[in-house]
Amino acid sequence: MQLRHTLPARIFHWTLAPLAIALVTTGLYITNPPRTGGSLRTARRLHNLAGMLFTGGLIARLYYGFLRREWRMILPERHDLKKLPAFAAYQLYLTEKKPKFRKYNVGQKFIYTFWPLAALLVLPLGFFLYAPKLFALPIKRLGGLNRVRNLLYYGTLLSAATIAGHIYLGLTDSTGKLKSIFTGCYKRGT
Ligand code: HEM
Repeated sequence: MQLRHTLPARIFHWTLAPLAIALVTTGLYITNPPRTGGSLRTARRLHNLAGMLFTGGLIARLYYGFLRREWRMILPERHDLKKLPAFAAYQLYLTEKKPKFRKYNVGQKFIYTFWPLAALLVLPLGFFLYAPKLFALPIKRLGGLNRVRNLLYYGTLLSAATIAGHIYLGLTDSTGKLKSIFTGCYKRGT
């Protein structure tokens, strides 16, 4: 048995994951609320709360990852890219041969690398809409409120797709790795 995910990493995972899902779902709800039933006010409140908590949590998570030099495990390297065709073939059920990776597979690595970059672009847009008077200048530079709304909407769709991709890869990789995000421990080959 080896420690795959430290306790702080697991606590971060299981606080940030529901917040990210809440942020995306309430965000999409606010963009296109149903005409009957539901409360837009509650959705807005939840969205703002999830946004504040997620931003704070993400800054703490990135700081923790920076201290542990986690980028070494997350950034796709040349050997990962070489295995990309074999990984795609395995994911598309074209072969039963599962390529081996050091810690994370190339799909997860791309997603983990994409997320901080996406957050850096998407979260400020959310804050611009939260306080448009305060951020009047950047909103104007970006082409106005509607443009900011559109950018945030497409950013949200992309985030939702990558979250779905991450969950799919997490649930289908191996039971040992799935358990490790709860217990922290992982036995090789499980
Ligand atoms: C029900 C939803 C989710 C499930 C079942 C899940 C599952 C997993 C699993 C199994 C791992 C470990 C992979 C491995 O050890 O190879 C993992 C890691 C990770 N997950 Fe999730 N995940 C979920 C939601 C999310 C969401 C919504 C986010 C963020 C937006 C997220 C971010 C991460 C990150 C950054 C890691 C890297 C490891 C770490 O932080 O220690 N997960 N997840």
